[in-house]
Amino acid sequence: MTDTITKVREHYSATGLTDRIKSALARITPEGQTLTVAQLASLDQFHTRGILATAELAGAAGLEPSIRVLDLGCGIGGPARYLAATFGCKVTGVDLSPGFIDAATYLTARCGLSDRVTFQVGDALHAPFEDAAFDAVFLQHVAMNIEDRVALYAEARRILTPGGRLAAYDLVFRDGAVVYPVPWARDTSTSFLLSEADTRTALEQAGFKAVLWRDDTQTALDWFKVTMAGSPPSGPNLGLVMGPDFPVMTGNLARNLRENRLGVLSVVLIRD
Ligand SMILES: C[S@@+](CC[C@H](N)C(=O)[O-])C[C@H]1O[C@@H](n2cnc3c(N)ncnc32)[C@H](O)[C@@H]1O
Repeated sequence: MTDTITKVREHYSATGLTDRIKSALARITPEGQTLTVAQLASLDQFHTRGILATAELAGAAGLEPSIRVLDLGCGIGGPARYLAATFGCKVTGVDLSPGFIDAATYLTARCGLSDRVTFQVGDALHAPFEDAAFDAVFLQHVAMNIEDRVALYAEARRILTPGGRLAAYDLVFRDGAVVYPVPWARDTSTSFLLSEADTRTALEQAGFKAVLWRDDTQTALDWFKVTMAGSPPSGPNLGLVMGPDFPVMTGNLARNLRENRLGVLSVVLIRD
């Protein structure tokens, strides 16, 4: 394991996460009761605009029940559960963090989706699957943790079937010094942001052609404005996953967007 991978894993180590989630959920619903994907959205959609962004990207990617989907860097599985519950497709989630995979597996059972959604620990640069094993790959707020971007996109291409889709939702570097900590990194040692132009070059070099290329920065800024003006969600939320300074991290992310240091990009691409 490289030094960077060890540090990224440490950032998302989330000690005792499943037990903490169980205790928090017990306060709102008994253990035996099935949960819905919507009920967990403040906790398990670990990216800007949460479930709204997942729904938009999934719509643009054109999912169908017969499709095999891989969610690379799946976190605690909110997007994977949303895709399976909404489109009826089978979804596999892979993540570097064993604690996240454990929590993802628990929450999926609580939602009654274990027959359609499975998870395993793995590195997105060495995905534990055969060539052409999937029809669609999702990558939401993961690429900025990965140093070798061309290698990441090449790996996504390898596991996709020809004509398969890569749906990515990421932060891009714009201008000036990024303010840390942010939700994906405490400092620059685990943050590898690319500009929009360099992201496009890396994707094209890996063999992808864009069918959707959209700057979502203003939409994200509008969302932050509304979210930060209201009170924090009352039930379990991402603070439970990332710790007490999560509001500082998200505050810095919003500031980086406002000050044009970062942007938000949604893309869907076809594998050649
Ligand atoms: C900000 S979270 C996003 C999680 C999820 N995609 C979502 O939107 O809810 C970033 C995730 O990427 C994972 N990650 C970072 N580098 C990775 C790698 N090399 N391989 C697999 N997962 C990785 C982290 O463990 C973390 O769960």
